[in-house]
Amino acid sequence: MAERKNTEFDRPGGYATPRGATQIQRESAADLPRADIRLLGDDVAPHVPATAAVEPVHRSADPDTRLYVGDCRDVIPNLPDHGEVDLVFADPPFNWDVPYDEWSDGMPRAEYERFTYDWLDICVDALAPHGSIWVNIPDDTAAEIVMHLKRRGLTMINWCAWHFRFGQHRDSSFIMSKVHALYFAKDPDHRIWNPDAILEQSDRASVYNDPRTQAKGRNAGMRVPMDVWYGPYWGRVQGNNKERRARHHNQIPEVYLERVILACSDEGGLVLDPFCGSGTTSTVARAWNRRSITTEYGAGNADSAWERINEIGMLRKGQSTGGSSALGRPRSKRTP
Ligand SMILES: C[S@@+](CC[C@H](N)C(=O)[O-])C[C@H]1O[C@@H](n2cnc3c(N)ncnc32)[C@H](O)[C@@H]1O
Repeated sequence: MAERKNTEFDRPGGYATPRGATQIQRESAADLPRADIRLLGDDVAPHVPATAAVEPVHRSADPDTRLYVGDCRDVIPNLPDHGEVDLVFADPPFNWDVPYDEWSDGMPRAEYERFTYDWLDICVDALAPHGSIWVNIPDDTAAEIVMHLKRRGLTMINWCAWHFRFGQHRDSSFIMSKVHALYFAKDPDHRIWNPDAILEQSDRASVYNDPRTQAKGRNAGMRVPMDVWYGPYWGRVQGNNKERRARHHNQIPEVYLERVILACSDEGGLVLDPFCGSGTTSTVARAWNRRSITTEYGAGNADSAWERINEIGMLRKGQSTGGSSALGRPRSKRTP
């Protein structure tokens, strides 16, 4: 019997997303309470957030940029902008015993899972109805985050991978060379999505010299990036990289945040990062004229991040867009 290919898609670029996949996710989210799925962290009591007015320790205008010092689980529920956030980007501590200045990164596993569900919940509640959340997370907690966001009724739009080649050597298993970039929306039909703002050259244009792509009326030779992210300026921020901020761990490259912020927020929109670190999210948001709020547990980290956000600014603006991420070398042009 001839193979039947499903060529009807419910969103651009979705070869693996045939019509109905989004609907299936919504139905299964509604069914999840019946499944009564228990994850390890569900047996730990949730954090009870503080209820006190919060004030930013650092603030700048045009666009409004605020940095709060404290536990994001206590600060975010008390923000005046609660329920108005367009985009959350979260790069949490991974519980890998990283020596952050004040945060202790070595909880028992069940407590870490509970911590994860708590901050996910407060971020989801902070989002506007059209809001999106991105989470940067390695293999060991990706599945739990996906399950939790699904049981909160959110819909997965993409499961991207940030691929880097500066991995730590080990011979006990394959070397880690990716972190997951999970993209969920509260309402997939009414989210902010700006594909034209993030286009890059297609392989057809930059490698194969395919004339058909140049003949397209709009965005000739360009396409939305694929869901595995790598390339110049996409490596881990290490050593003498000009973006590198001393004293900060697990700093994310600016191009990564640029892609997320341009795709999923509009100028003047509001971006929230619960785990400020070196301040990458607010630095990029400010450069692209988005308002932003970030929270950081360590006061020293916060001061250093603020210097970057407010004084140094974005160093690689515009470098996530336009270029080619093709792996192959350009092929020579065919002679007519
Ligand atoms: C993985 S780093 C974030 C790195 C950041 N994305 C960057 O590019 O620099 C996590 C940060 O979250 C902070 N942190 C940990 N737990 C926190 C909490 N409960 N509330 C606020 N900040 C927290 C840590 O001190 C650390 O600076």
